[in-house]
Formats: sequence, structure tokens, C-alpha cells
Amino acid sequence: MAVKSILIFLLVAVLATCSADAQRTIGIIHVNGTLYCTTNGNITGGPNASPTPVFANAALQVACEADVVALAPVNGTTNSNGAYLVVMIPLRNATINSIVSNCRLFVLTPLSSCDSALPARGLLSNLRFVKTVFGFLPLTYMAAAGFSLQP
Ligand SMILES: *[C@@H]1O[C@H](CO)[C@@H](O)[C@H](O)[C@H]1NC(C)=O
Ligand SMILES: *[C@@H]1O[C@H](CO)[C@@H](O)[C@H](O)[C@H]1NC(C)=O
Ligand SMILES: *[C@@H]1O[C@H](CO)[C@@H](O)[C@H](O)[C@H]1NC(C)=O
Ligand SMILES: *[C@@H]1O[C@H](CO)[C@@H](O)[C@H](O)[C@H]1NC(C)=O
Repeated sequence: MAVKSILIFLLVAVLATCSADAQRTIGIIHVNGTLYCTTNGNITGGPNASPTPVFANAALQVACEADVVALAPVNGTTNSNGAYLVVMIPLRNATINSIVSNCRLFVLTPLSSCDSALPARGLLSNLRFVKTVFGFLPLTYMAAAGFSLQP
């Protein structure tokens, strides 16, 4: 709770002081999706496929090589439905391209914790720009481009 209020305060402060540049064109970034308990984190399709189990309570982290988002690395967790949301605040000199090319989404919890038959390794994915919605504040959606096992 306290951490949340501090983050919200910080968010407002950052938005108020950096109303130019990245905040005006990118706004807040939501990296969201659903993580499945498979070696590529994807749902497995097919009309006769049994439902793909989700990867619940997995620790996630967006880490960036360059300084493009505030308070990086930014953490998140999947909920009981495997859904996750990582909220990021771009630095004022950041662009969508600099974020996509510098940041990656890591699943820190090893896959073996959702299925002991899977490797004891995490996943990683590049980010993909989805869209920016211009409301009171702009909101930019990003998603995992495709997960693979961490080396
Ligand atoms: C992320 O959230 C938005 C808004 O709820 C939704 O429209 C979008 O489909 C989600 N993206 C993914 C990859 O689930
Ligand atoms: C943005 O500025 C920070 C320092 O203010 C710098 O470390 C970072 O490399 C810059 N990022 C880009 C994409 O230019
Ligand atoms: C994010 O997760 C990492 C690894 O679990 C941890 O070391 C770090 O303190 C966390 N950062 C925050 C802001 O919670
Ligand atoms: C997993 O899903 C992502 C995003 O939908 C897609 O780009 C990727 O090709 C899929 N990977 C495989 C191996 O199906």
C-alpha cells in the first residue's frame, strides 16, 4: 500500500515535471498479456487440444540496456489467471523505438515451478509496440513479441 502510494506520487511528479517529450507522445506504458506454462509462454491451439495451463504467480521483470524508463528494472507478477501488467514510465528522452530496442521482458520464475517436466529456466521476450491511446493522459500498450527460454 505504502509503496503503491509512493509510486503514484512519483508518477504524478514525473508527469508534472516532464510534460514534454516522451510523456506527451508515449504517456504511461502498459506491458500486458497472459503467460502460459509452455516453453514459449504461448497458448497451444488446435481444436482437439486440451486447455493450456497458465503460469500463475510468476515473477516478471522488464529490464533495459539504456536508461529509457524510470525506476528500471520494473517488476510484475502474473495473477492466478496467468495475466500480467507491468507499468512503466518512460524517461523524457525515450522513444517507442528506444524502448522496444533496449528493453526485454524476463520471466524470472523457472518454468519447472508450473510444470516439473519443463526446464528449470526462465523465459525472455522482446517487446512489441501495440498502440497508443490518447486520452487525458496518453497510454501506450506493449506486449511480448514472443518468449523463448533464457540461455
Ligand atoms: C492488454 O490490455 C488491453 C486493455 O485491457 C487489452 O486490450 C489487450 O488485449 C491486452 N493485451 C494482451 C496482449 O493481452
Ligand atoms: C536518456 O537520458 C539518460 C540520462 O539522462 C541516458 O542515460 C540515456 O542513455 C538516454 N537515453 C536515450 C535513449 O538517449
Ligand atoms: C524487482 O525484482 C528483483 C528480483 O527479484 C529484486 O531484486 C528487486 O528488488 C525488485 N525491485 C523492486 C522495485 O521491487
Ligand atoms: C507466440 O506468440 C507470439 C505472440 O502472439 C507470436 O508472435 C509467436 O510467433 C508465437 N510463437 C510460437 C512459437 O508460436
